[in-house]
Amino acid sequence: MLLAKYFEKRRKAVNKALDKYLAPEDTKPTSLHKSMRHTIFAGGKRLRPLLFIATYEMLRGRKDLRAVRKILPVAAALEMVHSASLIHDDLPFIDNADQRRGEISNHKKFGNAIAILAGDALITKSFETILKISNKDKALKCLQLLIQACSTRGMLGGQVIEITAFQKKRVKLHMLRDIHLKKTGALLKASIQMASVLMESDKQIYNALGDFALNIGLAYQVIDDILDEVGADEILDKPSGEDLRNRKVTYPVLLGVEESKSQAIKLLKDAKNVIKYMPNNEVLIEFVDSIRDRIP
Ligand code: IPE
Ligand code: IPE
Ligand code: MG
Ligand code: MG
Ligand code: MG
Repeated sequence: MLLAKYFEKRRKAVNKALDKYLAPEDTKPTSLHKSMRHTIFAGGKRLRPLLFIATYEMLRGRKDLRAVRKILPVAAALEMVHSASLIHDDLPFIDNADQRRGEISNHKKFGNAIAILAGDALITKSFETILKISNKDKALKCLQLLIQACSTRGMLGGQVIEITAFQKKRVKLHMLRDIHLKKTGALLKASIQMASVLMESDKQIYNALGDFALNIGLAYQVIDDILDEVGADEILDKPSGEDLRNRKVTYPVLLGVEESKSQAIKLLKDAKNVIKYMPNNEVLIEFVDSIRDRIP
């Protein structure tokens, strides 16, 4: 990847911010703080913080790590919410997954009760963290976007529709698309639009970036479905075959692997088309290509 160094530096900065904002492990109650840190630092690609930062720098027109440092509370908050969603997603009552980010999943290590509470604690911590950026008007706008993304219309809604729809068996493609857009797309959309809020870009750019994000979000989840289906353990940092084991209806189940790949490629092409004419878009374009490169 051409911009490997760019991403590496920013990933490091995000990890440092997470370490700064999360209480140390020996803070009481220690089981809760250990559990919160376990999933955050087990690994993770930091996709949402990096998309947020890359969009911010595109709109700013300059790559500047010093400017990025000022917006790290937002980046850290995004990762906290996402990690919380993974902890809850892995619970026995949801996807019942034993591994996450190459390590033992949170509830397997700390028990269901602590895992539920650690997820809740990460979500509330994310709200506190996002409010640390200096411009409080912008902080509130970002917080509003984060809350919307988590809400019953966003990630939580998507997770619940998935659970209930799959109990009814006959899931149609438009329903699955809606689930994916909500459970995965909503937080990606908020991540990217928060950059637009901070840079005060006009409504047209804000909306265009929202479309860009939803295309990427849907594609990303379709690719996750494909990787799980084809057993691409070397690409996933979690075991494959989980969707089959849980009898989930996924894109490959409804469309087959090849058609799912074509749809993901088309979505990523549409995403690129949205930002094609935006200045300084090279990092985001490369980002989209790196998502495409995950297709097996
Ligand atoms: C996993 O997200 C859940 C999905 C939306 C498919 P990531 O693939 O971003 O997981 P981490 O953060 O790198 O562990
Ligand atoms: C997870 O989707 C989406 C959220 C956590 C909101 P998956 O259930 O497909 O994610 P993995 O495959 O467990 O990472
Ligand atoms: Mg799930
Ligand atoms: Mg899962
Ligand atoms: Mg999955």
